[in-house]
Amino acid sequence: MSQAVATPNAGADTTPPVTQRREGAVLVVTISNPPVNALGVAVRRGLQAAIAEAEADAAVALVLIHGAGRAFIAGADIREFGQPPQAPALPDVCRAIEQCSKPVVAAIHGPALGGGLEIALSAHYRLALPGSKLGLPEVQLGLLPGSGGTQRAPRLAGVKAAVELMLSGRHIGAEEAAKLGLVDRVGAGTDPLSAGLAYAAELLAQSAPVRRSCDAPGLADRAAAQAELDALRADTAKKSKGLFSPMKIIEAVQAALELPFDEGMKRERELFWQCIDSPQRAGLIHAFFAEREVLKVPEAQAAQPRPFATLGVVGGGTMGAGIAVSALDAGLPVTMVERDAESIARGRANVEKVYDGLVAKGRMTPEAKAAVMARYTGSTSYEALAQVDLVIEAVFEEMGVKKAVFAELDRVCKPGAVLATNTSYLDIDEIAASVSRPQDVVGLHFFSPANIMKLLEIVVPAQVSADVVATAFALAQKLKKVPVRAGVCDGFIGNRILAVYRAAADHMMEDGASPYQIDQALRDFGYPMGPFQVSDLAGGDIGWATRKRRAATRDPKARYVQIADRICERGWFGQKTGRGYYLYPAGARTGEMDPEVLAIVDAERERAGITPRAFSNDEILRRYMAAMVNEGANVVHQGIALRPLDVDVTFVYGYGFPRYRGGPMKYADMVGLPQILADIEAFAKEDPLFWKPSPLLVELVAKGANFASLNQSE
Ligand code: 3HC
Ligand code: NAI
Repeated sequence: MSQAVATPNAGADTTPPVTQRREGAVLVVTISNPPVNALGVAVRRGLQAAIAEAEADAAVALVLIHGAGRAFIAGADIREFGQPPQAPALPDVCRAIEQCSKPVVAAIHGPALGGGLEIALSAHYRLALPGSKLGLPEVQLGLLPGSGGTQRAPRLAGVKAAVELMLSGRHIGAEEAAKLGLVDRVGAGTDPLSAGLAYAAELLAQSAPVRRSCDAPGLADRAAAQAELDALRADTAKKSKGLFSPMKIIEAVQAALELPFDEGMKRERELFWQCIDSPQRAGLIHAFFAEREVLKVPEAQAAQPRPFATLGVVGGGTMGAGIAVSALDAGLPVTMVERDAESIARGRANVEKVYDGLVAKGRMTPEAKAAVMARYTGSTSYEALAQVDLVIEAVFEEMGVKKAVFAELDRVCKPGAVLATNTSYLDIDEIAASVSRPQDVVGLHFFSPANIMKLLEIVVPAQVSADVVATAFALAQKLKKVPVRAGVCDGFIGNRILAVYRAAADHMMEDGASPYQIDQALRDFGYPMGPFQVSDLAGGDIGWATRKRRAATRDPKARYVQIADRICERGWFGQKTGRGYYLYPAGARTGEMDPEVLAIVDAERERAGITPRAFSNDEILRRYMAAMVNEGANVVHQGIALRPLDVDVTFVYGYGFPRYRGGPMKYADMVGLPQILADIEAFAKEDPLFWKPSPLLVELVAKGANFASLNQSE
């Protein structure tokens, strides 16, 4: 006998997200809320109603919950956070499932994450199919598992395994989940319904009893569990610098150890709400959606990517080698071209060095290295690129050299091949105009080290065709990069904004703050390193060369701080030379303060006629952020970035901006745009040439709007 009952959906959508029907004595509950069965209010209501129906219908002996489509359940509906809560709350739904007087089985396939796993942990029996992704990733959103995950997972898997899952947020497969005790059975096949029904039949045949996770014995040895938690607490205090929710997870698990289940649940709820109310939750959830939203660009929506199976790279230096490794790691064959035999030998060595490092650390076998390197070909002849689908040029940053390379690519590459440049600053419209096929030319601006850094700016020149841009986005996904669409200008999104806030840091240094104080203020904000440490890491010579190149075109009225030049003139280029702004004795990577640098700074202040003044860390941060946000607004205003969120993603993934703050534009919204504008106007009284309020910022403040209003997703 089979009968279908639709649970009414609370929303306007006419398709019920939860349906139930009887298959014999089994009530089959199907969750269908595309794309990933998130637990919005209608799903929660549907699940609650299904359990009530199971209790009420004497013909039901067992409940089977499964997800339709590609997921079991990807968790709470993240879009609901920050909105007024709507009943029933997820912990109450979970408790209703657990309290059901008839056995409840969860049949898992695909993602079972966060609240999705918590639903499964509230069921009495769990089956997971191969390909399942189980996890409690709430920490990545600034949260803790708030529907019993902190109470049930330790009871099932023990403190150590459960807390490790919650602190890392990592996804595990069915086999590992079974080993940890989070699932009872690893099923076969891909259909959770048929696997679930077979499991249900077995359980019914055995008259399997209701078996609640709240009664599971994982915390029976209290002393051992407490010792594990104490060790994890000490470790977390050290490692989770600046993050709010990790210690809250520890506190919630402490409650699981100390309190009866229902009281532990209450404590978990209180701690969950503290996380919900924290600015970090707002920042991290903004980052979650922004990272997905950046993929939505007009060209990628209008056109299909061109197929690409082979890649060419011109130049085997720092960037060319990193790009080649990134492509090899993604399984693509790579042909690298260099200018002569010596250079291509060095290019190949640069690539091999990365894999040798992995082999030396035991993270790759020599056989695996050989297999990867078999996909690499080096050549000194452009003819080797005749058949590749996409070429990335990464030669010296000089227009003449780039144009010569593009002339060769134009000559040899097959029609339809995508021709990309990794230039940091040069005019890609000019490069495109120099070839016979400007529609195929695009910017692919990788960040160093290119095989590690996630950001990829996709720079869109005027004449490029939409399918080339779509191909660039498809390549980014293949290489597991986070792509951001940028327009052509000096420095695109990231380096253009960097130049401005970096100048603000130099101004502060000359006016009285030490580089060490500025770095400290920014580390306190959440950056892994301050700007002067970054400069020492990247090598001062790079910026020095750029400054010399631009000296002739610099506005003579604009303020120019010469401290960096004085340091570079001494050959102090940072870590690689053992000193820069910091001293690096015997190759140390952490720098020490250098009194000689402070003396240079003093001498430069005197030369410029500046009487140094004291800066508070708060003022340093305000000036640094005001400069960043103001130029970010200019970049959006001029259409270089599509939306403020594109600036946010650029800074989180390319410039170390703390992800939990969401990005500079989100940060500005949280501080309040009137405050940022007031700061800029105050600073403009000292230096009106440098501090010019962005027209977009002025407009938004006048309208009482914020940057989020320009992001479609918010
Ligand atoms: N809520 C709302 N929307 C969600 C969502 C969620 N939990 N998870 C994914 N989505 C949306 C995405 O925004 C995206 O929307 P778009 O198409 O409009 O851009 C769409 O679903 C597809 O997502 P992806 O592009 O990320 O698809 P993938 O196949 O690459 O990845 C996934 C699927 C692994 C499920 C990934 O989306 C993911 O990690 N989701 C978040 C999982 C998560 O963090 N869950 C915990 C939520 S917090 C919670 O449960 C609190 C509880 O403890 C009380
Ligand atoms: P690099 O100096 O390390 O490497 C450049 C390589 O190009 C050298 O190996 C050189 O032999 C080769 N080369 C020069 N002329 C050539 C030609 N005509 N044909 C073939 N090969 C030629 O330089 P790097 O740092 O790798 O930079 C390359 C490009 O990437 C530049 O445009 C740079 O602006 C850009 N870039 C650099 C970043 C960095 O952090 N180093 C970051 C992002 C972009």
